[in-house]
Amino acid sequence: MTAMRLDGKELAKVMRAEVAARVADRTRAGKRLPGLAAVIVGENPASQVYVRNKHKACQDAGLASWVHHLPAETSQAQLLDLVARFNADPQVHGILVQLPLPRQIDEDAVIRAVAPAKDVDCFHPENLGLLASGHPRYYPCTPHGVVQLLRRNGVEPAGKEVVIVGRSNIVGKPLALMLAQKRTPANPAGGDATVTIAHTRTRDLAAVCRRAEILIVAAGSPRIVTADMVVPGVVVVDVGTNSVNGKLVGDVHEGVGEVAAALSPVPGGVGPMTITLLLVNTLTAAEAIDG
Ligand code: GUN
Repeated sequence: MTAMRLDGKELAKVMRAEVAARVADRTRAGKRLPGLAAVIVGENPASQVYVRNKHKACQDAGLASWVHHLPAETSQAQLLDLVARFNADPQVHGILVQLPLPRQIDEDAVIRAVAPAKDVDCFHPENLGLLASGHPRYYPCTPHGVVQLLRRNGVEPAGKEVVIVGRSNIVGKPLALMLAQKRTPANPAGGDATVTIAHTRTRDLAAVCRRAEILIVAAGSPRIVTADMVVPGVVVVDVGTNSVNGKLVGDVHEGVGEVAAALSPVPGGVGPMTITLLLVNTLTAAEAIDG
């Protein structure tokens, strides 16, 4: 690979140390530890890995963390009861219900049940509305991880042609909003970029991708973007986490690394950044709730 590596693992280390220092400052000031309560329902192997990694990252940075593992047959009422307990618990500043949820549970109902002040995923419609209006309470973790990975590697999106492949509620849609928005003190992750969203109904995906100076791929399709679909000098961020024959592969084909100026690896790119921004949001929640 000739492209510069956008190393999320290294950057995550630096940012987690920043979080740990702020947590230590709060402890010295006699404040409660920021606390994250995570819930996983059922046995999805990828979800188990994510939740385990989140728990470990919290512990390493000095945050309190609780993981509640519920059986696959848990009812919606039981899950909503647990969320209500977290909403009322002063030790819990952030609540994360790992998605996807089993079929008998309405994901939207659960997302709406989380107190917006504790919605560190930024999935609640109130928080998405604040984000969309340029007054974010939280930034969603993966989109914010992408913005940090770009800026802290010296890649400034302002004025650039950005193409995002994927329009999910978790990544593509909020990231497009963030990158298109004006950067202000209240909205520091605003990108001031010219943003195009491509998706499964896009007529000529390759032609749209070739417009990009920054290409972000969050399509959920292994190696969907190949070397012929990008122009030399492009910066590529691969948000894909696909399991292919037991191996973790991204949405970007390895050959893109021979054309691009910079590329984030999978694993070791966006993944560690997502967890880092979750820690940041939990700390922000503690600051907002406890002062
Ligand atoms: N499933 C996949 N990514 C995420 C995430 O960032 N948060 C939650 N809660 N579930 C997910």
